[in-house]
Amino acid sequence: MNRPLTAEPVRKTRLGIAEGNRTELVALLNARLADLTDHALALKQAHWNVKGPQFVQLHEMFDEMVAEAQAYADLVAERAVMLGGQAVGTVQAAASATQLPAYPTGITSAPQHLEATAERLGLLANSIRTAIDTATGTGDADTADLFTEVSRGLDKQLWYVEAHLER
Ligand SMILES: [Fe+2]
Repeated sequence: MNRPLTAEPVRKTRLGIAEGNRTELVALLNARLADLTDHALALKQAHWNVKGPQFVQLHEMFDEMVAEAQAYADLVAERAVMLGGQAVGTVQAAASATQLPAYPTGITSAPQHLEATAERLGLLANSIRTAIDTATGTGDADTADLFTEVSRGLDKQLWYVEAHLER
């Protein structure tokens, strides 16, 4: 875990962002792609294994979140390629680069899954928020905007999950 992805050389493109900045942005996008891939699979784990009185509702909520996380991963990966880089989206790459703690595979109850998901969502949403600032500082308002869209979606996921944990 936490092994940084190597910055691949970027291809020539007519896109008007300096090569050095694009290299940095591609590394940033791949780092957050790893987190999003991890998050999507963790949500699927919750979708499959959650049990309790709210089963149907949570089973469906987690699966909707999987679809959203996969859509965000798609946006992030394709931006890396637009910038002249290589998207690194295999499960092996995600496993070695993710910044999220491993999702517990032995839990079953709804509160356990909601807590585990909320913890990871908080970390992910905040690291995407940092990526907005990094992209802005690298002169790429479009990547910042893309991360802003992802950030807004993850904040919404966190709201949904945390609302279930309130008494
Ligand atoms: Fe399913």
